Amino acid sequence: MRILSIETSCDETAIALIEAKSTRSSSEVKVLGNQLLSQAKLHEQYGGVFPTVAKREHALALTKLLKNCLSEADMIKESKTKTGDTKIDNKIRKILEREGNLASEIIDFLNSVKKPKIDAIGVTSGPGLEPALWVGINFAKALALAWDIPLYAINHMEGHILSAMLSREKNHDSRSKIHDTYLLTAINYPAISLLISGGHTELVLSKKIGQYKLIGETRDDAVGEAFDKVARMMNLPYPGGPQISKLSKEYAERKDVTNNKKFFFPRPMINSHDFDFSFSGLKTSVLYAIKKNGELTSDDKKEIAYMFEEAVGDVLSTKTLNAIKKYKARTLIIGGGVSANSHLRDVFTNMIKNNNEDKEIDSVKLFLPDQKMSTDNALMIALATLLKINSKKRPSKTFKANGNLSL
Ligand code: KG4
Ligand code: ZN
Repeated sequence: MRILSIETSCDETAIALIEAKSTRSSSEVKVLGNQLLSQAKLHEQYGGVFPTVAKREHALALTKLLKNCLSEADMIKESKTKTGDTKIDNKIRKILEREGNLASEIIDFLNSVKKPKIDAIGVTSGPGLEPALWVGINFAKALALAWDIPLYAINHMEGHILSAMLSREKNHDSRSKIHDTYLLTAINYPAISLLISGGHTELVLSKKIGQYKLIGETRDDAVGEAFDKVARMMNLPYPGGPQISKLSKEYAERKDVTNNKKFFFPRPMINSHDFDFSFSGLKTSVLYAIKKNGELTSDDKKEIAYMFEEAVGDVLSTKTLNAIKKYKARTLIIGGGVSANSHLRDVFTNMIKNNNEDKEIDSVKLFLPDQKMSTDNALMIALATLLKINSKKRPSKTFKANGNLSL
């Protein structure tokens, strides 16, 4: 089963192609192609993602990324005879009527190559920026029509959950294999997923595969958003998460770290008896601390980054542990761009490891995505498509971009 996937929900244009062999309990996933183009540099000047710019850049990048992905998979076979079918070309023009250039580019490409052996396409339909999502969706609809293969609408957050569940194949030998091979194995339920990204902070309960119930979420800013805003307060470039992480590590590695800290930040809602979060107060408290301090030295910035991460880590881990206990979870999944953060990865790893005495969580298995796979990519969308196909879900006939799509 070969699946092509497309992701354009935010500022990353990404296309992947996987080959999956599934048994009842697991799937072997070979990554045939995995392409990604980040627009982060372009959005830096706005301090965040500018939707119309994101949409334009996706339209510019998609055909090139598709070609690169198929050529990485060695699946471009030129067609000697003209394969063009004007009826289909016209339909593609209609689907991509708002993206005239993209329509012409993809029609030219499709007419110059033989139909590749691909069984299905998955595309992110939400959540995200609607103008950006639409480009990917229409591009996917055009491909599905031209190749006459089923198309699945995929929830971006489900993709984040699945990318955490992917593990390297046991006998993986990077020297002898051209393509990376992974295993997607069955997990034990109930499972709790903590999703932390630029737009979301959610705790999700799953009692069985493919089933999700939101048990808590942020009431204001998402964690990633707080990272990005705090970074901006310290004049660090967008996206701020990795910048904060770097400064915080430098602070932690200093030999002269003492208990005398200049900065301390609150842990909002840490004791509330629910699974909701709030990060805007934490962000504001960082802002006040910066204002009160005046000009920040480079050491100040490092300490702020470190203390901010500590506060975030305390809140996230406390709430997650409460959820694990309440729902007697056997699996903990952490997903979303912020799960790339080394401090938070350590916090969750230690939380599971050090609680071995605690009967309630001694059998909980932690799944963290590969650091490279934490932030947006198309591989995760291919995995979510595979899950849909394996659980016999029907292809999505008509669907729209939904910026607020929930799990
Ligand atoms: O999942 P993602 O790539 O995009 C969304 O779906 O939002 O998450 C992006 C977010 C950004 O806020 C970015 O600053 C944050 O993830 N992020 C990090 C790190 N890497 C990315 N935050 C903290 N530490 C990191 N190392
Ligand atoms: Zn994401």
